[in-house]
Amino acid sequence: MHHIPTARRPRALDDVPGWFQPVDQDLFGVLIEATGPEPGDLAEMGCYLGQSAILMGRHLGPGDVLTVCDLFGDETHGSYSRRGTLAYYRKRLTRDAFEANYLAFHEELPRIVHGRTVELAEELAAKSCRFVHIDASHQYEDVSGDIDIARRALRPHGIVALDDYRTEHVPGVAAAVWEAVFTKGLRPVCVSPAKLYATWGDPGPFQRALRGWAAERTDRTVGEDTIDGGTVLRIAPSKLPPPRGARRVAQELLPPVVLRAVSKALP
Ligand SMILES: C[S@@+](CC[C@H](N)C(=O)[O-])C[C@H]1O[C@@H](n2cnc3c(N)ncnc32)[C@H](O)[C@@H]1O
Repeated sequence: MHHIPTARRPRALDDVPGWFQPVDQDLFGVLIEATGPEPGDLAEMGCYLGQSAILMGRHLGPGDVLTVCDLFGDETHGSYSRRGTLAYYRKRLTRDAFEANYLAFHEELPRIVHGRTVELAEELAAKSCRFVHIDASHQYEDVSGDIDIARRALRPHGIVALDDYRTEHVPGVAAAVWEAVFTKGLRPVCVSPAKLYATWGDPGPFQRALRGWAAERTDRTVGEDTIDGGTVLRIAPSKLPPPRGARRVAQELLPPVVLRAVSKALP
């Protein structure tokens, strides 16, 4: 039996361990809301200790169902694709820990599929979902299959969020993501440093929602790119402005040639 430390009851999302960046927390909110107002379910492949699932649960409308799927660090319900993955998640992940975290923020648990994500092919009804987060196995074959499951489960104007689409130690995720864009009709909406968001519908309304949201925020920047004729937004945290007084300190300390270069860089 593995020793799992008893965690304190989390109060804020950032008290829950995970990798869910603030900019992606924002993007989940904006994009899930933009899939409304018609009802529709949400699904997550790979929920770990609940950080992203808890946020998704905040966007459920009346009658909407959130389904999460995970192996929860044990292999009685299927096996991990890599031995090292089981060893890693066994250390701190249990279904009990996920449930305790989720219930610290919501009155009811989501629907839990305890097993491999392939089971979602049966568990999620066709065209039932408006948002699916793919963040389970990071092996090419698994992610490619997860994208196919999401495509069937999503309604036409739903969103799929793909984690680690450009992370160097998991190149198979990038392979599966771009395969879907070039051979399965998936259309990118935007990218953040960690995730790519896409749809099998029209990216335009989602991009308008994102621009409207970003216009109100000084701490987020929006860039624009074109991939194969389609617009893709790039959304990232803004670089912090230099501290006040930086120009004066530079004037006092730096030789003129360096000062000219620094001054150009300062707002
Ligand atoms: C990166 S974590 C998910 C993080 C979570 N979405 C968050 O933001 O906090 C990946 C999760 O996927 C699960 N997982 C890995 N391979 C899986 C598979 N084939 N089927 C189901 N779950 C899997 C792991 O147990 C782990 O909890």
